[in-house]
Amino acid sequence: MLFLQGMRKLFTDIRSIHGIETDPKSLLKGTEMSRVDSIHDAWLLTDNGNFADWGSMQDSNLPKADEIISLQGLEVLPGLVDSHTHCIFAEPRSTEWEMRLKGATYEEIAAAGGGILNSAAKLRSMDEEWLYEKSLNRVLTMIAHGSTTIEIKSGYGLSTESELKMLRIARRIKKNVKATIKTTFLGAHAVPPEFNGRQDDYVAHIINQMLQAVSEDGLADHMDVFCDRGFFTPEQTLQLLEAAARYGLPAKIHANELGITGGVQVAAQAGAWSADHLEHIGAEEIECLRNSEVMPVGLPGTSYFLDIPYTPARMIIDAGLPFALASDFNPGSSPVCNMQMIWSLGCSRMKMLPAEAFNAITLNAARSLRLENTAGSIAIGKQADFWTTETGNAVQSVPYFFGVNHANAVYCKGTKV
Ligand code: NIG
Ligand code: FE
Repeated sequence: MLFLQGMRKLFTDIRSIHGIETDPKSLLKGTEMSRVDSIHDAWLLTDNGNFADWGSMQDSNLPKADEIISLQGLEVLPGLVDSHTHCIFAEPRSTEWEMRLKGATYEEIAAAGGGILNSAAKLRSMDEEWLYEKSLNRVLTMIAHGSTTIEIKSGYGLSTESELKMLRIARRIKKNVKATIKTTFLGAHAVPPEFNGRQDDYVAHIINQMLQAVSEDGLADHMDVFCDRGFFTPEQTLQLLEAAARYGLPAKIHANELGITGGVQVAAQAGAWSADHLEHIGAEEIECLRNSEVMPVGLPGTSYFLDIPYTPARMIIDAGLPFALASDFNPGSSPVCNMQMIWSLGCSRMKMLPAEAFNAITLNAARSLRLENTAGSIAIGKQADFWTTETGNAVQSVPYFFGVNHANAVYCKGTKV
């Protein structure tokens, strides 16, 4: 009988490794977020796709390995975790963007049947194969910018058939890329035209039909609801998330993007893994988050693109809470797929320190998907997901020199992709 030995790879001549954890934590909160551990002039060992060890190039004995790869003075960072994307969509919405540039608001466009409903109309009519190819390319671009864990939501189908189409595509992407992919059912993203004026009926339809179909096929890892002004109410959201829990789907939530709407309280009540957006929150929401396990997630690409307030990251972190950042990559409110840009926006627009924003796009982002044991830092036993960069002093310089891709190569589970 032949036993497969773990394949050991030794990466040498690394200028710096950032984001190492000798004592792995499940998340970082408050002042803990401003710390990033690095070592310099280092080697990194992976075994069977997981981080196995690291040390100094000055060590007299380097570990034995099946393959030795010199990184020739590059820096190494843990793979970025994009915990919130809507990257499966048919077309850009650049016409709506121009309408907004002329003064229309996101909510006005949505109320007039544009926005998410515009995306849904296009997606429903689009061939699955074609949609798959387009979406796969977007995911490959995200990976090329250093994202090695990516969450993908449905929510542009808004019918059982088209929501399943989106989730099948997400599963197919998962099978065909090396990055870790997690999927989220977002049937409650908007009320489709067939249910116009019958919002409660659509909620019942999601609960009684769509959820069963989605879970029967095992296509989703979580359920999400757009709980906001003009979309779903806190009561409907709670009903939806409780139904999802009965199908074993943990909750995530879009909350407080358009106003103080009670979404944070619902997230806490439903035991959601994360509450995302939070552009509009006050002391009550902070208190509520403090008494919960909900990871607050900011989406600065949305604030930038919609010209709405940024999530008050300082208020959240200074209250001693954890905080994560994601791209919200979508055609309506955040057409950005580059987490390095999100890192930069977190600093320049939300006044997070580079190290805080780094932890927000790595470990805390992993926590928002409850993947902190396998992703989000360079720690022994975690998946060897990392990227290399020529940029020196990367934790400061990557978000500082914004708008370019600093990734030289990206590795998922120890393999270059
Ligand atoms: O996160 N807010 C709800 N959903 C997306 C926007 C989707 C869209 O406009 O297509 C968001 O911003
Ligand atoms: Fe979103």
